[in-house]
Amino acid sequence: MVETLSFTDNFNFSKYVSQVEDFDPILYIGYVCAVNGLEVLSKGPCAKIGEICTIKLTDGKTLLSEVVGLEDSVVKLTVYGLTDGIEVGCEVVASGKPLQVPVGWGLLGRTIDATGKPCDGLGELVPEAYYPAVKSAPDAMTKKEIDRRITTGVRVIDSMLTVGKGQRLGIFAGSGVGKSTLLSMIARNTDADINVIGLIGERGREVLDFIDRDLGEEGMRRSVVVVAKGDEPAICRLRAAQVCTAVAEYFRDQGKDVMLMMDNVTRFAKAQREISLSSGEVPAQRGYTPSVFDSIPKLLERTGTNDRGTITAFYAVLVDGDDMNEPIADTVRGVLDGHVVLSRKLAMEYHYPAIDVLQSISRLSKRVTGKMTQKAVGKVRELMAVYQNNAQMINAGIYTKGSSVQIDEAIDKHDEIEAFLKQEEDERCPMADTLDRLKALTGIDISEEEYEERPAIKKNAAVSTQAAALGQAVDTSVPDVE
Ligand SMILES: Nc1ncnc2c1ncn2[C@@H]1O[C@H](COP(=O)(O)OP(=O)(O)O)[C@@H](O)[C@H]1O
Ligand SMILES: [Mg+2]
Repeated sequence: MVETLSFTDNFNFSKYVSQVEDFDPILYIGYVCAVNGLEVLSKGPCAKIGEICTIKLTDGKTLLSEVVGLEDSVVKLTVYGLTDGIEVGCEVVASGKPLQVPVGWGLLGRTIDATGKPCDGLGELVPEAYYPAVKSAPDAMTKKEIDRRITTGVRVIDSMLTVGKGQRLGIFAGSGVGKSTLLSMIARNTDADINVIGLIGERGREVLDFIDRDLGEEGMRRSVVVVAKGDEPAICRLRAAQVCTAVAEYFRDQGKDVMLMMDNVTRFAKAQREISLSSGEVPAQRGYTPSVFDSIPKLLERTGTNDRGTITAFYAVLVDGDDMNEPIADTVRGVLDGHVVLSRKLAMEYHYPAIDVLQSISRLSKRVTGKMTQKAVGKVRELMAVYQNNAQMINAGIYTKGSSVQIDEAIDKHDEIEAFLKQEEDERCPMADTLDRLKALTGIDISEEEYEERPAIKKNAAVSTQAAALGQAVDTSVPDVE
């Protein structure tokens, strides 16, 4: 008797069946009829806004483009790269889909561009799945609560601005104040499982420096870098921000704690403005079009927690002339759960990381820190504020010791606090060391329990149990004081 192989019994065909179901056997083709700068007009194909089309050049090469406008049978396309080589009559083939990002574990240690193609010369990627670049935020009802602390490895953040796993913060700074250095310190030292770093609109030199020098081999090993340089078309800069978010979403769906860092959101906003202006939108606030203010929350709301994992995110924002109220900074600040302000004055004094603690806030820090830690942080903030308010008097030598117990203490502790806040680029600082130093600095006894990842004691646990019984969601966090 011949035994039949029954491998079909335990073979999962669903992946292939769904591919066949998604497949449209008809090719929708159009032909280029005009090229104006970066914009290509084509007669057909039948396509939707945001759909990816391939332009076939006469030399056999292909270019990726995206539909940005439609008028009768004319399709307006923008090319992901240079328009060199495009002729009237070139074939334009519609893909039927918006931009898809190849994702998988193979991305670790790699650098990809805005279309998900590797650009590090390390060979092809074998994707495990494709994720849409543009997606809506996870359902608010299924999001997990933020109750675990993340270690960034930057002492001043871990102590004074403690961040939760799944929290989203902005880093507000002018150029050259230390954003890239700070982000690379976080990438090398965080206890997150994976880093996803989006370099949006940086110069080529800055990108190389960041990857080779700042991130280094050690940081790169567990990172994915998505790059769209400043000289690439606006569509690349716009999509790269969404592509790096999609990559982070993939790892979050695998149940991981992801650290997303985007440098920077201002260039994403400017790319959105460029595209919307060229498609006829009218500018509103300070030259920015309304779609800019619509696209920022849509991008930023995608990170955070979902039902499986977390994406903690740091979004750098360029503040020209240190103007914190310019519209992009203002919009970003309104969406996020905290802001870290970098100060040029501190950088000039060689106080690095140049974080202005009193101007910065982490809105969720109380959910992920214990009572005594909060007390210690409060004490340091208070001493810093007292010193700052009386700095002129102290520096001018007008203040006489003994006039105020509080000012005396602020002066006594000043140097120690400064030393605590400063950190060399290559200095490692695990969470336990940060808390040990905070304990020594303030003399407040931080108990062992508060060294854990989930140190916050739920004050109103009883209320939450009651609410759960009634099927209601209740915010169990200790109220934040701002
Ligand atoms: N932690 C640090 N320690 C020492 N120098 C620093 C530190 N952070 C920044 N710098 C100095 O500031 C310069 C600019 O920093 P960078 O991170 O490139 O700024 P940005 O990304 O904001 O333009 C660096 O070349 C370096 O000299
Ligand atoms: Mg930089």
